[in-house]
Amino acid sequence: MSKLHLIDHPMIQHKLTIMRSKETGSKDFRELLNEISLLMGYEITRDVPLDEVEIETPMGAMVAHRVKGRKLAIVPILRAGLGMVDGLLTLVPVAKVGHIGLYRNEETHEPVVYYCKLPFDIQDRLVILTDPMLATGGSASDAISMLKEKGCTNIRLMCLVSAPEGIKKVQTDHPDVDIYTAAIDDHLNQDAYIVPGLGDAGDRIFGTK
Ligand code: PRP
Ligand code: URA
Repeated sequence: MSKLHLIDHPMIQHKLTIMRSKETGSKDFRELLNEISLLMGYEITRDVPLDEVEIETPMGAMVAHRVKGRKLAIVPILRAGLGMVDGLLTLVPVAKVGHIGLYRNEETHEPVVYYCKLPFDIQDRLVILTDPMLATGGSASDAISMLKEKGCTNIRLMCLVSAPEGIKKVQTDHPDVDIYTAAIDDHLNQDAYIVPGLGDAGDRIFGTK
């Protein structure tokens, strides 16, 4: 069974509260999402393997630790997942970045694929799939299936706000994928929006409404 990690550090809760407010504009929304993404990335990468390296400090020789290999890929689900990429890249500047384009059909709420471009060696990497909103879970579940079709076996899903329905769907469809989220909200409304949520993440990041 996949693990659900609730990353509710007080600083993250504080920043998320500002993001949720309808008074917050796109500039602040984007900046806060980047800041939270960096903080969440810190937890998501907590168990990455280290190896030992011999170095010389100005005071002498020592055996120190560094991250083993450079095998991380960040894959945002377009559009809103893009808002989490820069924060993660601040933490792991050498990560490769792929893109999966999905939008929800407004009537059926089913995801529709329109783009997929991934690093050529994606199957060898730990993939952090980013999307701030996990609502019905359809988009995340389909994106994970696309990654698995490319051979990925080590996938983590990073969300900001999740609905119980979306968590259940991803855990049922992909029991091997851990979910990291900053909040678990109450329910979905009839339009499959998260309540209380924060509205349409893509529109708020890019100012399209
Ligand atoms: C939003 C969000 C997720 C999806 C979540 O994207 O960013 O990708 O909906 O909903 P689900 O869990 O029910 O699939 P949207 O389709 O609005 O596209 P956008 O990011 O381009 O605005
Ligand atoms: N997509 C969003 O951007 N917000 C929601 O609440 C649900 C899906």
